[in-house]
Amino acid sequence: MASDRPRALSGIQPTSGSFHLGNYLGAIRQYVALQETHDAFYMVVDLHAITMPQDPKELRANTRLSAAQLLAAGLDPERCTLFVQSHVPEHAQLGWVMNCITGFGEASRMTQFKDKSAKGGVNNASVGLFTYPILQVADILLYQANAVPVGEDQRQHIELTRDLAERFNQRFGQTFTIPSAHIVKEVAKIYDLQDPAIKMSKSASSPKGLINLLDEPKATEKKIKSAVTDTGTEIRFDAEKKPGVSNLLTIYSTLTGESIPALEARYEGKGYGALKTDLAAVMVDFVTPFRKRTQEFLDDPETLDAILAKGAEKARAVASETLAQAYDRLGFLPAKH
Ligand code: TRP
Repeated sequence: MASDRPRALSGIQPTSGSFHLGNYLGAIRQYVALQETHDAFYMVVDLHAITMPQDPKELRANTRLSAAQLLAAGLDPERCTLFVQSHVPEHAQLGWVMNCITGFGEASRMTQFKDKSAKGGVNNASVGLFTYPILQVADILLYQANAVPVGEDQRQHIELTRDLAERFNQRFGQTFTIPSAHIVKEVAKIYDLQDPAIKMSKSASSPKGLINLLDEPKATEKKIKSAVTDTGTEIRFDAEKKPGVSNLLTIYSTLTGESIPALEARYEGKGYGALKTDLAAVMVDFVTPFRKRTQEFLDDPETLDAILAKGAEKARAVASETLAQAYDRLGFLPAKH
């Protein structure tokens, strides 16, 4: 089967409801592409989600919703392994092992923890949030992943993964593959439509600046048409002087595959209005089938859950082998049946 291919693994949090355009163009499109070249494992990381308070009903709904959107975006259960993290108990098990070889100071240097805990005050943050990156290390090492497709913000966690894999291998013998971050440089960075100085993101963006893929197409159209543009009238890519127009050009180009110079030529002498009208149409054409496919999976939770059950079974076959090896190397007594 696909086993002679390099392995890819990534995870996405089930906390956001609808995916937004930044998620999609930054990470999820990469997931879809890597199915063709890699033995790819993708999971919805519900264990990570509970590092922050979650409503149980919402968590369950969002876990299905995330899986449905990944499938709607083009993940194909015949060509990749899609599963839910908590269905594979080896994540928590190897996570504990990794906790025990991580230095407290080392974990304290993780900037995502500093950022996330700063919001509610460090004393209110859970210990789970503190060890979040170490669980992520276990996620990756269990699958002997070579490539980890993530955004730039995850680089430090991949570095930690490499450090801990090397440490374990050195102390206990060769066990884990050393992974690399797969961060595609040209991957579009998408900015808030109302404030093109900040990245489009659920937490930072204003509702009007954020394109949720599951929004009503009419609402999406309106957001594009009221996007902030720059002084002047010329349609030209210039991230510094024209961040608003440049962001629209990036979105347009990434969605259609047309190059930015080709778009600049096409819109020469035309106003911002023409660009926005056309981009709104491109967006609507993109989100309409995406919403429809997502809804089809949500309307048929049995099929969706069966896909996830099969994925978990495939994932466990790999994860349990790695965990057994790690336990043996550590000196744990084998459990005899
Ligand atoms: N921390 C990642 C994020 O916030 C999610 C994640 C969890 C992940 N486990 C992973 C990403 C393993 C890659 C590999 O985006």
